[in-house]
Amino acid sequence: MAILGFGKKNGNETEETLKIPVSLGVIMDGNGRWAKKRMLPRSAGHRAGAENLKALCRNCGNYGVKYLTVYAFSTENWNRPDDEVSALMDLFVEFFDRYDPELEQEGIRVRFTGDIENLPDRIKAVCKKGEERSKHRDRMQLIVAFNYGGRREIVNSCQKIAQMVKNGDLNVEDIDEKTIADNLYLPDVPDPDLIIRPSGEQRLSNFLLWESAYSELWVSDCLWPDFGLEELTEAFRAYTRRDRRFGGLSKEEK
Ligand code: IPE
Ligand code: IPE
Ligand code: MG
Repeated sequence: MAILGFGKKNGNETEETLKIPVSLGVIMDGNGRWAKKRMLPRSAGHRAGAENLKALCRNCGNYGVKYLTVYAFSTENWNRPDDEVSALMDLFVEFFDRYDPELEQEGIRVRFTGDIENLPDRIKAVCKKGEERSKHRDRMQLIVAFNYGGRREIVNSCQKIAQMVKNGDLNVEDIDEKTIADNLYLPDVPDPDLIIRPSGEQRLSNFLLWESAYSELWVSDCLWPDFGLEELTEAFRAYTRRDRRFGGLSKEEK
């Protein structure tokens, strides 16, 4: 676990240690409300949200986060009006074309998680290109959850396992938690230590359902496009104070 000193408090010289999650999840919510407050179309909120993802990547890279998983489009977001869905798809393509040089500078490897196979061809092509050209970068992994649903991911894992049983490669009695986890979209990515949800909603909205079993949750009223370094640091401060017991006892009680 990365540990950093953080700031001098009220001019006081005492330094506290800040625990940095190795694996962080962020539900990028609140773009629509951000736009509404400014009497702008929702698409302007999504654009501001995409801009802010750049800043989050930089800040997380500097803090020493190793895996940053961001929720960009859920399997349920297809229920939005066609023009909003198509604005989100266009923004997705634009983001990875326009910002890849900056991601490169930050040493960020890009990966995608979700039902990528069923996305339109031009989106699939962006995913493939983005993963291919960044695979040598090793400072941090940015995992973009796109057309992602936690339930769909678990269903997909079950289907792969059922196929192995059908082929005679696996016995039903040998199926355990590790079998399910190994057949999720990105089994090598560690479960998130912390999940941040801006914009006040207190729910996961189908994000990383299996992986979040023991994630710490932190909710902020700040809308995603406004969520900056200050809020991120606040989340890490809260995370630092959490007592992660994983069903066991605190260190002091052992
Ligand atoms: C998050 O912002 C972006 C996506 C879900 C794609 P929203 O569009 O959900 O913003 P609110 O929740 O309406 O404010
Ligand atoms: C979750 O936000 C999905 C993303 C941020 C991509 P939503 O806005 O879709 O979630 P609900 O509808 O408020 O639960
Ligand atoms: Mg929302």
